[in-house]
Amino acid sequence: MFQYVSKSTADTEALGERTASLLKGTEQIALFGDLGAGKTAFTRGICRGLGVADGVSSPTFAIVNAYRGRVPVYHFDMYRITSVDDLFATGFYDYADTGVLIIEWSENIESELDPDAIRIRILKSDDENERIFEIEGLDAYADIIG
Ligand SMILES: Nc1ncnc2c1ncn2[C@@H]1O[C@H](COP(=O)(O)OP(=O)(O)OP(=O)(O)O)[C@@H](O)[C@H]1O
Ligand SMILES: [Mg+2]
Repeated sequence: MFQYVSKSTADTEALGERTASLLKGTEQIALFGDLGAGKTAFTRGICRGLGVADGVSSPTFAIVNAYRGRVPVYHFDMYRITSVDDLFATGFYDYADTGVLIIEWSENIESELDPDAIRIRILKSDDENERIFEIEGLDAYADIIG
């Protein structure tokens, strides 16, 4: 695990973009963190790095948004998912291995995550524009990302 301290929304987006450069195309990126932590901002950066042209916003009502970049991207918001049946209905298990899965509110589906998922916890701090990223699963690339 390593930490990255983001000083702005743009900083977080750039972190996402650098992270995207490491992705092969079937990773699960499990995001943890409260309302307004910056999960969608980080996702927007990943999508930009993957060449997604569409706008990226939290798929709270749709549950999943599909984008096409250099690889397919499936962006989930698990805020309202409370059971494996709910999760099954989103198509989560079908999408696995067919593209990059980015999962907001991974707290709600933690037992169903890929054991190899890249896990990223985003914490707020006293400074309203600062966020602390705890990144698990990319230690070998800490120099590139951080
Ligand atoms: N360093 C930072 N990184 C990311 N966002 C920041 C930062 N500083 C301030 N912000 C602001 O925090 C908010 C983050 O919103 P975002 O939609 O990305 O959060 P979220 O974690 O996806 O929330 P939700 O759970 O509601 O989907 C934005 O208004 C953004 O401008
Ligand atoms: Mg969001």
